[in-house]
Amino acid sequence: MKKENVYILGIESSCDDTSAAVLCNDKILSNVVADQKIHAEYGGVVPELASRAHQQNIVPVVHQALGKARITKDQLSAIAFTRGPGLMGSLLVGTSFAKSLAFGLNIPLIDVNHMQAHILAHFIDEEYHSKPPFPFLAMTISGGHTQIVKVSNYFDMEVLGETIDDAVGEAYDKSGKVLGLGYPAGPEIDKRSQLGNPKAYPFTKPKVDGLDFSFSGLKTGILYFVQRQTKANPNFVKENLNDICASIQYTIIGILMDKLKLAVKQTGIKHIAIGGGVSANSGIRKALKEAEKKYGWTTYIPKFEYTTDNAAMIAIVGYLKYLDQDFSDFDVMATARLKI
Ligand code: KG4
Ligand code: ZN
Repeated sequence: MKKENVYILGIESSCDDTSAAVLCNDKILSNVVADQKIHAEYGGVVPELASRAHQQNIVPVVHQALGKARITKDQLSAIAFTRGPGLMGSLLVGTSFAKSLAFGLNIPLIDVNHMQAHILAHFIDEEYHSKPPFPFLAMTISGGHTQIVKVSNYFDMEVLGETIDDAVGEAYDKSGKVLGLGYPAGPEIDKRSQLGNPKAYPFTKPKVDGLDFSFSGLKTGILYFVQRQTKANPNFVKENLNDICASIQYTIIGILMDKLKLAVKQTGIKHIAIGGGVSANSGIRKALKEAEKKYGWTTYIPKFEYTTDNAAMIAIVGYLKYLDQDFSDFDVMATARLKI
């Protein structure tokens, strides 16, 4: 007997991207993301503005996702939404919308942990992307997260280490602010790094035990360095921007790779998957490719649109939970601090 197709609508609204995706089994039919340009003016995400923009975006984004997937809402099997972690005002918009729609259509509601979703995005069926075998190590690196997770099965995950202060993307963005770059600064620092000398200015790596990370000291170190140099030469940043960027990137990638190497040593697991906006970074991609040759690792990088915040990753978790009939009650609450 032919199995019936499962259609999941995924909804993501944990931070500053409103996204809706439709998936048929493990294949993505549509993945619509409305980002919020408004935050660039403020140099970071303003929670109240994010929440309001989600309210404006959610209906058109869902409508577009269904249209692009060429299905009607009556064909949906279930609705998956981000329960947390994230900004409360943002999460509430997606949560209430998902609940109302699932209730109205009388179909199951599935709550999804955003951090699990970044990892399980690797299980979206895509040409040219192989799925990591269990167990593997996942490193989630973005503007909001920095974690190393041991993944033994879809829903059997253990956080081995995480940041004790800023996320790695914040380290990029805050350093960029010191250098007068726009927000988010990660992509520009990355671009300039490729034109500069990574060893021009040695910045100190933080000393943090085990597999935890810390990035706030680095940001302060860069600020003091720039202040000192600018006193001696007011044009210092302008004249040396590419070298400064390359040195910052070299330090950050060094920190990430040191922790990954330690995680491999501790667990003996050599399959490494990354996710989150910073996985677009050319430095981390190059370092991972080198580690394949040097240490015999196998590395997995998802398609760019599934690394930043998106609803496709929420929908794939929805699909995996649907197969387990793991549905939510309608009184499920958005939760700003949700552990894996
Ligand atoms: O996953 P994401 O879109 O949103 C969340 O923060 O969850 O990640 C955005 C972060 C920003 O901090 C941005 O500066 C950083 O990812 N980013 C990069 C690059 N592209 C984006 N950082 C370094 N190099 C890049 N190429
Ligand atoms: Zn995220």
